[in-house]
Amino acid sequence: MKRTSGATITATASEQLVLDRVGISYPARDAGPDFVAVKEASFTVDPSEFTCVVGPSGCGKSTLLMAAAGLIPVSGGEILVGDTVVRAPGVDRAVVFQAASLLPWRTVLGNVAYGLEIRHRKDARSRAREMIELVGLDGAATKYPHELSGGMQQRANLARALAADPRLLLMDEPFAALDAQTRELMQTELLRVWSEMRKTVLFITHQIEEAVYLGDQVVVLSKGPETVVREILRVDFARPRDESIKRTPAFMELVDHIWQLIRNG
Ligand SMILES: Nc1ncnc2c1ncn2[C@@H]1O[C@H](COP(=O)(O)OP(=O)(O)O)[C@@H](O)[C@H]1O
Ligand SMILES: [Mg+2]
Repeated sequence: MKRTSGATITATASEQLVLDRVGISYPARDAGPDFVAVKEASFTVDPSEFTCVVGPSGCGKSTLLMAAAGLIPVSGGEILVGDTVVRAPGVDRAVVFQAASLLPWRTVLGNVAYGLEIRHRKDARSRAREMIELVGLDGAATKYPHELSGGMQQRANLARALAADPRLLLMDEPFAALDAQTRELMQTELLRVWSEMRKTVLFITHQIEEAVYLGDQVVVLSKGPETVVREILRVDFARPRDESIKRTPAFMELVDHIWQLIRNG
C-alpha cells in the first residue's frame, strides 16, 4: 500500500470469518445448569468486509467476540478463520477492547512495537512508526499513555492491533468510553484506516447508528440469555462514507428498523 510519505505498508491478505451455529455457555458456579449465553449464532464476515454486531446490553456480544478471539471455547458449532477452526488465540486475530489496554510504562511507540518485539521482529520499531502515522498519532510517539486523551489512546490501541498485521480485527465497543464528538471522529478515522488496510473486521457495539455507519453488514442479536441472531442486514451506502449520511432518510430508516427489532426483543 502506498503512503503519502512514499513508504509502503505491507499487509497480508485478510481472511473470512465464519460463525457456524455457534453456541456458548458459561459453566455454572455451583451444581446448577450451565448458563446459555448464546444459543445459536451463524453469520459470515467476508474477507475485507466490515461487520457490526448490535444487540441489547448483556445479550452476548462480548461473549461472541471473545470466542472468535479464541479466549473462550464454544459449546456448540464452530468458528472458522479461513479454513482453520478457532481453538485458541492467535496472531492472525487482533483484539481492540473498550478500555485502552496500553502498557503504562511504555511510550506509544513502545506499546505499538511491543507485540512485534516479543516475537523478535527486527522491523518492530519501523513498522510501529508506520502504524502510528497511519492512525494519525505522529507527534505523539514518545508520549506515555497517561499523557494521551481517550481518543488518542484508542488510536494507539488500533495501531498496536494493526502492527501485528492480523488477518482479522476484532473490536469490542472500542469507542464506548469516548465523548460523543470524539466518538464520531474516531468512527470516520477507523473507516479511513480500514479502507487503507482492508482487514476483515468484526465490530461490536450497542450503538445502532455506529453499526449502520461503519458496517457492510449489521448482525442484530436478540435479548439474552439464549441469544439468537434476529436479523442480518446489508448496508450498501457508498464508500467512502462521511457523517452526512447519518442525516439521510435511508440511513434513519435502517436505524429505526434495527431499533424496532431490538425493542421487540
Ligand atoms: N465469565 C462469565 N461467567 C458467567 N457468565 C458470564 C460471563 N461473562 C458474561 N456472562 C454472562 O453472559 C451474558 C452475556 O454477556 P456479554 O457477552 O458480556 O454481553 P454484552 O457484551 O452483549 O453486553 C450476560 O448475561 C453475562 O452476565
Ligand atoms: Mg460487552
